[in-house]
Amino acid sequence: MASLPGATLWNAFKSTADSQPEEQPLLPMMQKLMVQMNRINTGIYMQDYRLIDTTAHNIAHHPKIARSQMKKIKKVLGSEIKKFVYYDLQMVHSHADSMSMAARRENMQQVLEHYEIVQRGCVNCHVDFRTELREVLHPDQE
Ligand code: HEC
Repeated sequence: MASLPGATLWNAFKSTADSQPEEQPLLPMMQKLMVQMNRINTGIYMQDYRLIDTTAHNIAHHPKIARSQMKKIKKVLGSEIKKFVYYDLQMVHSHADSMSMAARRENMQQVLEHYEIVQRGCVNCHVDFRTELREVLHPDQE
């Protein structure tokens, strides 16, 4: 998996989080991410590089997870948190950033390559963690 050792990855995650402006609960953040991915999809088919650039940039700088939720997530996932962080940081953030730069160069092949990795980061995290975390974050909902 990661080429970075766990501690380094965690520190990178924290410093990325520090540079992210606001805090937000996971659910509205996720719904927004989906809208943004769909918008990029439109940009790809319409060859609207500006739309891809700005939207990918917003994904790369999405708000950080609300502190109270992050605490719960860390507690439940234990050492699995490394994978969670990897999907977010190394797949979503890093490749959203590269996608935005590829769009600035109007390089559609590279846009597509990075889009695919971002998407895989989203989906990997859902496959591994979504059900478990949903139960922890919304114990009131069945
Ligand atoms: C590091 C893990 C992780 C990554 C990366 C991730 N998600 Fe999620 N996602 C979650 C979790 C956990 C939930 C469940 C949240 C909840 O129920 O409060 C979720 C839920 C969702 C939902 C369902 C919202 C609903 O109404 O139930 C959507 C849509 C979504 N994510 C989209 C995305 C998109 C698009 C990306 C990539 C750009 C992404 N996610 C990346 C962990 C992740």
